[in-house]
Amino acid sequence: MTTTNPLLVPTLSDLRARTSMKWGLYPSDVLPLWVAEMDVSLAPAVTEAIVRAAQTGDTGYPYGTAYAESVASFAADRWGWDGLDPSRTAQVPDVMMGIVEVLRLLTRPGDAVVVTAPVYAPFFAFVTHADRQVVETSLSAEHRLDPAAIEDGLLRARAGGSKNPVVLLSNPHNPTGTVHTRAELESIAQVARRHGARIVSDEIHAPLVYSDAAFVPMLSVVGAENAFALTSGSKAFNLAGLKAALLMAGPEAVDDLGRLPEEVSHGPSHVGILAHTAGFARGGDWLDALLAGLEDNRTLLGRLLEEHLPQVSWTPPQATYLAWLDASALGLSAAASADALAVVSDLAGPAEFFLEEARVALSSGHVFGRGGEDAVRLNFATRPEILTDAVTRMGRAVSAVR
Ligand SMILES: Cc1ncc(COP(=O)(O)O)c(C=O)c1O
Repeated sequence: MTTTNPLLVPTLSDLRARTSMKWGLYPSDVLPLWVAEMDVSLAPAVTEAIVRAAQTGDTGYPYGTAYAESVASFAADRWGWDGLDPSRTAQVPDVMMGIVEVLRLLTRPGDAVVVTAPVYAPFFAFVTHADRQVVETSLSAEHRLDPAAIEDGLLRARAGGSKNPVVLLSNPHNPTGTVHTRAELESIAQVARRHGARIVSDEIHAPLVYSDAAFVPMLSVVGAENAFALTSGSKAFNLAGLKAALLMAGPEAVDDLGRLPEEVSHGPSHVGILAHTAGFARGGDWLDALLAGLEDNRTLLGRLLEEHLPQVSWTPPQATYLAWLDASALGLSAAASADALAVVSDLAGPAEFFLEEARVALSSGHVFGRGGEDAVRLNFATRPEILTDAVTRMGRAVSAVR
């Protein structure tokens, strides 16, 4: 059965009528290719679940383990991983709140959380807001995990007095779309063990890995038995507005999970859980059609950049619908205004230029930390003609100032 590409369903006027953040923040002459929402119609299984809940009044508090079971079968089917045990999971309000709750279990105020920049901006804000200290390390020049840099971060954390450091990973990595290999994850697990650190792996983008890469769940890695991982249908099924996520503990982290306060489970939305569960359990055809559409867009973006913005370089992402574009050749660095606690909508450098001169909204590289000052992140989960219009406008804006 062929399923319609969900990126081709909403028209530009449907999208402009949306009220969530992506299409809400900017005026109508701006093409918004920034925050990680997709311009898609929902998977039919997800719509059915939401409508059924509304029609039957099934809108109470969350209950049961269906979410974990749906993720466990998805993981077995898609990644060949049958190690996800629903009894070692907890439902949490969303991935970021889940990360904060895990940090509360594993660390004390002031403890260090090592991140691998450039990385998802809220890692900085949420960790700091939870009274933990961000220790920034860098990915390698090829955007791969760098065990030596992480080890150095852990040494700095220890030297700064941190007794219970955590390594917080984005697996796959936002904003570069890197899919970490088993060997890379194993070496990070070894480094963490050596320094008495725990790993927390944010796997929200895991269902969005393209055919040229293979996702490796952190909890399937030798040495990571005491790690935590988090996932959610929020990115893959475009359900950020229906709050729910799943926290997963490795076999040696069960006692820690047991200390999770009962009230945390009151946070996720029951309808959110029904929707996410339907996506993981019955949204496979829709997801395959989406991934095929996204791969086409990734190819299209490569062609558009070559034609309109040859100064910009990129490595096509192996996962996520986010493209990390190096705009350093444009000489518009955001370094002067870089701020460790920047929020996702902050703009500087190349992103500010493209908003002002091309009326295209991108995510500003500087909010992702070290190494992002000359970059922008472009969300290509949209209609091909919107992508074409946006990159054409960006190219025209650059030509106008050269
Ligand atoms: C790596 C990463 N983690 C977490 C989130 C946010 O997830 P949630 O809304 O479930 O907190 C995002 C959203 O884009 C993300 O890219």
